[in-house]
Amino acid sequence: MCGIVGYVGKKNACGILIEGLKRLEYRGYDSAGICINHGGKLHISKHTGRVMHLEEEVLGDENIATGTTGIAHTRWATHGEPNQTNAHPHTDDSGRIALVHNGVIENYRTLRQFLIDKGHTFKSETDTEVLVQLIGEFYRDGSRNLEQAVHLALPEVTGTYGIAVTSSDEPDKIVAARKGSPLIIGVGEDEYVVASDAGAIIEHTANVIYLKDNEIAVITSTGLRTATIDNVPVTKEIQQIEWSLDEIALGGFEHFMLKEIFEQGEAVRNSMRGRLDLREMRVQLGGLESVLRELLRTRKIVLIGCGTAWHAGLVGEYLFEDLGRIPTEVEYSSEFRYRNPIVDEGTTVIAISQSGETADTLAALREATDKGALTLGIVNVVGSTVARNTDAGVYLHAGPEIGVASTKAFTCQLAVQTLIALLLGRRRFMSQSTMQGYLEALAEIPEKIESILTESERIKDIASGLIEFDNWLFLGRGYNYPVALEGALKLKEISYIHAEGLPAAEMKHGPIALINENMPVVFLAPRCSTYAKIISNIEEVRARKGRVIAIATQGDEEIRKYCDQVIYVPDCPVPLQPMLTVVPLQLLAYHAALLRGCNVDKPRNLAKSVTVE
Ligand code: AGP
Repeated sequence: MCGIVGYVGKKNACGILIEGLKRLEYRGYDSAGICINHGGKLHISKHTGRVMHLEEEVLGDENIATGTTGIAHTRWATHGEPNQTNAHPHTDDSGRIALVHNGVIENYRTLRQFLIDKGHTFKSETDTEVLVQLIGEFYRDGSRNLEQAVHLALPEVTGTYGIAVTSSDEPDKIVAARKGSPLIIGVGEDEYVVASDAGAIIEHTANVIYLKDNEIAVITSTGLRTATIDNVPVTKEIQQIEWSLDEIALGGFEHFMLKEIFEQGEAVRNSMRGRLDLREMRVQLGGLESVLRELLRTRKIVLIGCGTAWHAGLVGEYLFEDLGRIPTEVEYSSEFRYRNPIVDEGTTVIAISQSGETADTLAALREATDKGALTLGIVNVVGSTVARNTDAGVYLHAGPEIGVASTKAFTCQLAVQTLIALLLGRRRFMSQSTMQGYLEALAEIPEKIESILTESERIKDIASGLIEFDNWLFLGRGYNYPVALEGALKLKEISYIHAEGLPAAEMKHGPIALINENMPVVFLAPRCSTYAKIISNIEEVRARKGRVIAIATQGDEEIRKYCDQVIYVPDCPVPLQPMLTVVPLQLLAYHAALLRGCNVDKPRNLAKSVTVE
């Protein structure tokens, strides 16, 4: 998820664009760039890191400082690591067209080869450069204007985009278009601001039009025209922005954590986009192609990570053994790095890390590399150190995770591990029909996650009845045992309530001594082969007056009679359950923390990325 902004008007564009980028920085902040279309030339400046670095760079640059038409971008890398070359804007070979993009071009490899065969040369590793080169292909003979070239190029593209394009031949014009990524146009006095969200517009005007999917806008200082990508004119209604700036960055949510919990459906969709192929009933992971042969021959998988990433690895252990039939171990990175692990060429070590910068995981990775293992990364931050220090890997595409308590990264880590396990399982032994069943069920997960989010208010009521208790237990079996650990961690790290997660059967071997009327016990109890065992565990807690909250499968009326509270999740195959059962636990922790007056987004003593040992 990146932020794009464009300006056409009477004022100098540079200052307006830089301020706009700052307002969009929560969308991505690994590199930024600006292009001012002035004096028959495109003046471009790009910089790695935060927008302020770009601002320092362009300060005093006469060419950039003047000019009333421009586009700019703040990046959250998806294809190609964060560096100056991969930063936006990108230009076509002629240098006459510049483009900024938010989204993912799925068929960029095919288009890139088509354009290379047509004699185009590429400077960056990005999917975006393909788009501007394609527009350039239709523009270069001079027979078309910019919007005509854009109208011809976009139907060739599959994937998502919010784009703003400008050409040095048409200095007072920006062409904008969207499909799947947000794009809003602020309508001011003789000026227009186009942006990914209202945050970059609100300062200039509250009058906006919202582009719909497959719509294009041609913006000049004298006017605005909108049409579909097939060039059918569209009349747009001007609407009013009602939100304050802060509200916009948070997208109307009170905290980034809640926003990211509510983004999980879309985040998981993005994690599977272009990778889950329901037509061919297969999984495609471009990031693993170069090592697939070696991976298929691996004798053992070792998953390493810290905190929530380690919990995701625990679910991964079940997935790789159950769906991939590959012996799998999970290690705390901090332990793995010092215990001289048995790792060799036949081992694949997979480092799981949202930030890609966690010190213990980096050190554990070095240990694995030194021992000759094949190393893979499952990472959210593109170009991060884990990504650069592994042989291959898969990016989550979950978008920036700003809340310290990890939520959407966890569900996306599960989605990506499921894709890898299915890819290996299908290549090793799994039948086409079994694969089909899992892929179809996986495709339904995003919507099922979104249906659980409607329970947020009820979960808040449940939390309000439990926040007086200072010790909680979370219990689960099989695939849901790691979810119990994750539920306990979420509660601990943001509400400061002491909580412990355990395999449900372990309770009898000690922790049951803790159970009394002051102990809330959260059970992961969806339908599965050990359901009856979980019910017995629930009765053991009830017998000792424990307060039982169960996460159960929709339609399971039976379980009500054993529990104080039941939160339902939709049914799905057991290996996919953790992506659903964790959501109510994230909401329970969020509401409990809020009701206890804790700072949910910046909990005490914690950092979003632990870059020290
Ligand atoms: C989880 O909510 C915490 N922020 C923390 O446990 C985190 O998962 C851990 O520090 C690992 O971070 P990483 O995924 O960026 O490596």
